[in-house]
Amino acid sequence: RKKLLVLSVVGVGVATGLSAGEKVDPLLAMARQYFQPLPKVVDNPQNPVTPEKVELGKMLYHDPRLSKSGLISCNTCHNLASYGVDNLPTSVGHGWAIGPRNAPTVYNAALQIAQFWDGRAKDLEEQAQGPILNPIEMAMPSKEFAVERIKSIPQYVELFKKAFPNEKDPVTYENIAKAIAAFERTLMTPSRFDRFLQGDTNALTQKEKEGLKLFVEVGCVACHNGPNLGGNMFMKFGQVTDYWRVTRPYVLKDKPTIPVDVGRFAVTHKEEDMYVFKVPPLRNVEKTYPYFHDGSVWKLEDAVRIMAETQLGKKLTPQEVDKIVAFLKSLTGEIPKHALELPVLPASTDRTSKPEF
Ligand code: HEM
Ligand code: HEM
Repeated sequence: RKKLLVLSVVGVGVATGLSAGEKVDPLLAMARQYFQPLPKVVDNPQNPVTPEKVELGKMLYHDPRLSKSGLISCNTCHNLASYGVDNLPTSVGHGWAIGPRNAPTVYNAALQIAQFWDGRAKDLEEQAQGPILNPIEMAMPSKEFAVERIKSIPQYVELFKKAFPNEKDPVTYENIAKAIAAFERTLMTPSRFDRFLQGDTNALTQKEKEGLKLFVEVGCVACHNGPNLGGNMFMKFGQVTDYWRVTRPYVLKDKPTIPVDVGRFAVTHKEEDMYVFKVPPLRNVEKTYPYFHDGSVWKLEDAVRIMAETQLGKKLTPQEVDKIVAFLKSLTGEIPKHALELPVLPASTDRTSKPEF
């Protein structure tokens, strides 16, 4: 028995990088079992992040000429100034088309096992190829059309040459996506919670610490863990009860019927993936309302209550909800400076295709 105890103490010391004899705050030790601080960049060996790619990617991210109408950019639905979302229940795209799902944030998105609510894109490089051609998002008629529009702008051609120096014909649809993804890989938002995980136990208030403890003890941590408090796994929304029975009462009165979304079933066609969604990350969740894949719930308190009920079959007291929400708000991070500085976009030329509605 004694041996085991010694071993487990040594185990904690190794895991936290402490030297022998140093005392670890028990809450900090517990938190470190489930969460990690954010990295600065999430690199991809298949698409290494370079300053040239990031600069180009940031311009493309903000350029509405990647849409048929010349009106919609990535930033329209993933506004970097509002924590990478549009704060709409579901997004609005080309021709005022209303999409079926809530736009997740691009901040810290690179850390996830897959992209989209149903995980249908394996990484950011694959993901960024989707919205440009999606008829209800940016609605470009074809990859070739998108490439021709960018090629008609000489300054862009130069920037692609710098970002992809070993390629003969660097302005390609894949490289548009790669540059945007490289930029997104730098969009990390460290918060006070990271300082806490790094050992500054005063970085969280008493109430936030109580919320963190509850978050672990109630069981949220089974699904929302890792550096992004989510984004690591797919789980059924509605472990205990059908999710829509619980969320429907929260839907605004002028939007009575939201169709039930089958989630990952649409991707895999496996029965066990019915109503399964990617567990969303919870960093900056204070800012990324409304909540859930259908944007049905506006208040974080309600989202927390619903989670406890649908996923864990538990009823939280108002005080418990309050503490968990306080903890979740400590995950609101600092937006990196380069994400808040707008790029200056090059002018179109006579050869650039005109906006079409
Ligand atoms: C999903 C980036 C354009 C609306 C995503 C995700 C990323 C992303 C990284 C997945 C996030 C996650 O799963 O956590 C981009 C980029 C764009 C772009 C780089 C420009 C090329 C747009 C536009 C709209 C939009 C213009 C709105 C019209 C959405 C929605 C989802 C999504 C609704 C969730 C869809 C689903 O899961 O099925 N986007 N986006 N995005 N984006 Fe965008
Ligand atoms: C969504 C918090 C437990 C899986 C969410 C959201 C919040 C949240 C705030 C909405 C995020 C957003 O829309 O951006 C919590 C809390 C929990 C908890 C406080 C503990 C009381 C769990 C557990 C699981 C889980 C145990 C897995 C069994 C999910 C999934 C979604 C989600 C799959 C996405 C649902 C959808 O919209 O389709 N959680 N969660 N959560 N959570 Fe949890």
